[in-house]
Amino acid sequence: MTTQTLTAPGLVLRPLELADAEALYAAHGDAESHQYWSSPAHKNVEETRAYIEETLAIKGAHVWAITESGGAALGRIALFVLREGVGEIGVIMRPEASGRGLASKALDLVLAHGFGPLGLHRVAADIDPDNSSSISLFLRAGFTQEGVLRANWKTHIGVRDSVIMAKLKV
Ligand SMILES: CC(C)(COP(=O)(O)OP(=O)(O)OC[C@H]1O[C@@H](n2cnc3c(N)ncnc32)[C@H](O)[C@@H]1OP(=O)(O)O)[C@@H](O)C(=O)NCCC(=O)NCCS
Repeated sequence: MTTQTLTAPGLVLRPLELADAEALYAAHGDAESHQYWSSPAHKNVEETRAYIEETLAIKGAHVWAITESGGAALGRIALFVLREGVGEIGVIMRPEASGRGLASKALDLVLAHGFGPLGLHRVAADIDPDNSSSISLFLRAGFTQEGVLRANWKTHIGVRDSVIMAKLKV
């Protein structure tokens, strides 16, 4: 299924493109933003472009640029449909666009799309236990903390546990 543009007041999620690499390098090139990501911060825009290309090639991936009115990407939100009815979300904002409620609004919009047209019954997120801003984002969206997978990732900051959070279709 192709990725559709989703809109809400003050927010346009449009399909992510390779041309968003420059704007998103502000997030992916920032060590603090990538602290709890699965890979270290990108070294240059080309690395971000290659990363976007890889993400778009994942089967079942719906990836949107988070924008205010369809222009520059302020962040990125992805919904990976892992198997029938089950999705997983990942989201990152450019640091200067954080803390304005845009990630929350984007998450609500993607959840409505996932539980509606995409027919999902479960959407999950896999979050580092120390990533308090992400845990609070998903809690605000109605996710439940289901449990911890121990030593689930080896990343640039070491072997890390995962907090598994999920929301079911009501
Ligand atoms: C996690 C992340 C996406 C959150 O993005 P964000 O844009 O700061 O999220 P929001 O603006 O929606 O919410 C952040 C805070 O701003 C507050 N806020 C400010 N203005 C707001 C508004 N108008 N509406 C809603 N919330 C608002 C929220 O209440 C929230 O406060 P809290 O953290 O104390 O609960 C961002 O911190 C990020 O990119 N982190 C790095 C990447 C990462 O780790 N991603 C998660 C991987 S699973």
